[in-house]
Amino acid sequence: SKIVIAIDGYSSCGKSTTAKAVAARMGYGYIDTGAMYRAVSLFFIREHVALSNEREVADALEKIHITFNHNARTGKNETCLNGLNVEEEIRKMYISNIVSEVSAIPEVRWAMVAQQQKMGRRRGVVMDGRDIGTKVFPDAEVKVFMTADTYTRARRRQQELLAKGELVNLQDIIDNLEKRDHIDTTRSESPLRQASDAKLLDTSHMTIEEQVDWVIEQADQ
Ligand code: C5P
Repeated sequence: SKIVIAIDGYSSCGKSTTAKAVAARMGYGYIDTGAMYRAVSLFFIREHVALSNEREVADALEKIHITFNHNARTGKNETCLNGLNVEEEIRKMYISNIVSEVSAIPEVRWAMVAQQQKMGRRRGVVMDGRDIGTKVFPDAEVKVFMTADTYTRARRRQQELLAKGELVNLQDIIDNLEKRDHIDTTRSESPLRQASDAKLLDTSHMTIEEQVDWVIEQADQ
């Protein structure tokens, strides 16, 4: 029977690449929860929502509808904000620079967590994020917590951005990763926590194939 696979951990550890490949091999759906927080951030920027204004945030959240679309032509997953493909836009640095602040707003988390629980209610999904094994699906059958050293993560991030034509200095990426890690791990009720029943996967010296096999092995047990 179908299960939920929760993949949490630090950014740029290969979480989404691994989760996507696991989902494809198992014939499961893939849900990128980071993309949802990024889409909310994009909407807030576009609509000039004041992050400290609860009313404005709540009103804006009601106007946000996030979906994932599989593009048959490109074979890629696209994040859609109110029906429009924002996949490329939400990966840019200006979004990375505010997403942790946006995702720290309680109202934003409540709305996204509720939506994620709905998306996975029939199981058969691989979900990647920060709080999937602890908060969204504490009853997930498989829980993985991914880490890698900061330098490895920054190099991977740099390659990803470069592939999209954005040239970013390695130190700027390290600074951004460390800042996001700091926000993600230190605020009260931090989303980035290894669930007590999650298996730790350090990907610093692993290939994507090895990571995928490792996760699928957990699912087979
Ligand atoms: O996974 P990604 O790096 O795209 O996530 C962007 C940001 O969204 C993270 O740095 C974190 O602040 C936030 N996030 C979160 N909870 C999740 C997924 C992402 O707070 N489940």
